[in-house]
Amino acid sequence: MQRSATLTGERIILGLESSCDDTAAAVIRARPGLPRGTILGAEVLGQDALHGAFGGVVPEIAARAHAERLDLVTEAALGRAGLGLEAIDAVAVTAGPGLIGGLLAGVMFAKGLAAGRGLPLYGVNHLAGHALTPRLVADLDFPYLMLLASGGHCQFLAVTGPEAFHRMGGTIDDAPGEAFDKIARHLGLAAPGGPALEAEALGGDPDRFDFPRPLLDREGCDLSFAGLKTAVRRACDRLVAAQGGITRADRADLCAGFQAAVTATLEEKTRRALRAFAARHGTTTLAVAGGVAANRAIRAALEAVAAAEAFAWLAPPGALCTDNGAITAWAAAERMALRGPDALDLPARPRWPLDAAAAPMLGSGRKGAKA
Ligand code: KG4
Ligand code: ZN
Repeated sequence: MQRSATLTGERIILGLESSCDDTAAAVIRARPGLPRGTILGAEVLGQDALHGAFGGVVPEIAARAHAERLDLVTEAALGRAGLGLEAIDAVAVTAGPGLIGGLLAGVMFAKGLAAGRGLPLYGVNHLAGHALTPRLVADLDFPYLMLLASGGHCQFLAVTGPEAFHRMGGTIDDAPGEAFDKIARHLGLAAPGGPALEAEALGGDPDRFDFPRPLLDREGCDLSFAGLKTAVRRACDRLVAAQGGITRADRADLCAGFQAAVTATLEEKTRRALRAFAARHGTTTLAVAGGVAANRAIRAALEAVAAAEAFAWLAPPGALCTDNGAITAWAAAERMALRGPDALDLPARPRWPLDAAAAPMLGSGRKGAKA
C-alpha cells in the first residue's frame, strides 16, 4: 500500500536504527532512484550513560534499552514531522550488521508496524545506510569513493549503485574510532573519546613521540590501528613508570601524536584509494561518513588529498555521519528503485558484509558491530 504515492513518485518512509548503542527513528520524503531526500522529523536516543561504567557497550543492556525506546523515538520522529502513522508509505529497519539483541528489537518492532498497518517492510544493511548518505544530502551520481570510518568499521568502498559496493581496502584489526575511544579512556579522558581526544590534541606537540604509521610500507589501501594503539599506551606507561604519572602536557602530546599518526595514515591510504578508483571509474567524488569523519584534523587532511587528486569532496553533516534513522530510510528509498520489499520473515543478520565478493577482513574492530 503506497498511500501518499503521488505522480512524482514521492514516498514517506519511516527509518529505524538499533544496531549498536543509538536508538533512532526518522521520517523522510524521497523519490526512489533520485538523489536528495528531505528529513521531515528525527530522534536519536544515545546510551552513553547506560554503558559508561563498563568501558564499552554491553549488548544485553543495549538490547533492553532499544526495546524500551523504539516506540518513543518513533513517536518523537513522527511528532517532529507533524505526521501520523497513516502518512507512512514504508517501514525501513537496520537488519544488520550489528549486535544481535538490538537488531532483533528493531526488526521485531518494524515487523509489528508493517504487519499492523499493512506497510511494505525494508531490511537495510547499516553500512549501506552510511555509504549512501552522501546522496541523501546532495545531487551526487554514482560512482563515488566512500571512506567509512567509525567506531566499528573502516573501509574504502567504490559505490557504483544503490546495492553495488566494492570494498577496495579496510582495517585488518581495530577501527580508528575504537582506537580513539580506547586511548582516550587509557588517558583518563571523558567519553565520548573521539571528540575529547581531538580537543586535547589541540594543545599538544604532534612530533614529540615517534608513533608508527601502520601499513604504509605495504601496497594497497588496507589499514591497521591496533599496533598504533599499543604504541601510544606503551609510551604513556613508560612515562608513568619514569615519573610516577603523566602531566597535562604529556597527555596533550600523546593525543596530538596519536591523532597525527591516524591522520597521516588515512591521508596516504586515501590517496592510494583515490588513484585506484580513478584508474577504474574516472575522477569523481570522495565522500566520507562515520563518527571519525567528524574529526576536524582528519577531515581537513582528507579534503586536501581529494583536491590534490582532482576529486570533489563531500562530507555530510556530523549528525548524519553518526548513527541515525534517516540513513536507514534513505537506503530503503534507494533500493525501492531496484526491487521490492522484504517478507515478514526478514531475519536479523549480525554479520552482513556489504561486498559479499570481497575476502573477509582479519578483523573489523573489536566492537565489530558498529559502523
Ligand atoms: O559512526 P559512529 O557514531 O558510531 C559507530 O561507530 O557506528 O562513530 C562513533 C565513533 C566513536 O568511536 C567516536 O569516538 C568516533 O566515532 N568519533 C571521533 C570523533 N567524533 C566521534 N573520532 C575522532 N574524532 C572525533 N571528533
Ligand atoms: Zn554506524
